[in-house]
Amino acid sequence: MLNTHIRYEPEADALMLLDQRYLPRREEWYEVRDLATTVYALQEMVIRGAPAIGVTAAYGCYFCARETQRTEGTGEGWEAALRDRLETLKNARPTAVNLRWAVEELTKMWEERPGIGLPALATIWLDRARAMQREDEEINKAMGAHGANLLKDGDRVMTHCNAGALATAGWGTAVGVIYSAVEQGKKITVVANETRPFLQGARLTAYELHKCGVDVTVACDNACALLMKKGLVDKVIVGADRIAANGDAANKIGTYGVALLAKAHGIPFYVAAPSSTFDLRCPTGEEIPIEERTPREVTHPTGESAITPEGVKVYNFAFDVTPAELIAGIITEKGVLTPPYTESIAKIIGGKR
Ligand code: MRU
Repeated sequence: MLNTHIRYEPEADALMLLDQRYLPRREEWYEVRDLATTVYALQEMVIRGAPAIGVTAAYGCYFCARETQRTEGTGEGWEAALRDRLETLKNARPTAVNLRWAVEELTKMWEERPGIGLPALATIWLDRARAMQREDEEINKAMGAHGANLLKDGDRVMTHCNAGALATAGWGTAVGVIYSAVEQGKKITVVANETRPFLQGARLTAYELHKCGVDVTVACDNACALLMKKGLVDKVIVGADRIAANGDAANKIGTYGVALLAKAHGIPFYVAAPSSTFDLRCPTGEEIPIEERTPREVTHPTGESAITPEGVKVYNFAFDVTPAELIAGIITEKGVLTPPYTESIAKIIGGKR
């Protein structure tokens, strides 16, 4: 199973990331060593997927501390410089709340140690980032065990975007549920929606499932209704970037449409996400910020020539919000939450953050 795509190398004091922009064509590594390279990796989607963004951000805090030590030194004034860097890091991408969650968790460790020196802070942050990486995989396996019970032998599962090992520290959320069901001995086949414009489904979900020997078929996003109508989909499982207190769930653009189609065809639609993806500060999905990305992703799908007439306008919202009423269950590491979500989320997730 893929879990080496995020690798801290102590000798180089660098974080090596398997560059997801180039998969599956080639396996190239990107080196993160300071704030600029962390932000670049996040914004350009060298690494992506909410939990992987969170883990990378935790390492990013460490690199911010090291950079501050190199640039401002350990004398007076380093605190303000470090705070500025953390603020920049926290805002690298707006929708996946795991980014804010990780930076806030590490900031809290700092606040709990008044008077701590910069080198000592860097050390505890690096340890925490490494632990967070290990914990994320464990959390995903717990989530997988809960979710796998929802899948039957022979199920054909549709997923959107990539919520697999590559989107996390390992195993995955939505795709992790599939891996867990396969591990239980169930025969599961997967429909991976291609997920325009970045093609996380066609490139990444297909890549990792295929590598693990799970039967996967890629479908154009616009085939979803037909596939459901033809009876080729038994269940849908997707990941999430942020889940509001009422269960509204932000995920990759197109997810909302898949959920509506699942409802229309009587197909259960599940969301799988760790508790770090819940944002109880957002009462509903209305408050979730939606990232808008460069039109170029839409106009230049291969990176070379444009497929649209020059000067034409483009919508490139990266996420949408699926209303809670379309979600049959939210699979977490603590169990499967069911409606009414305001109550189940408050009970199982609330109080934690
Ligand atoms: O823009 P991306 O590729 O970071 O978006 C990723 C998704 O939407 C995933 O489905 C989500 O982060 C869940 S990942 C386990």
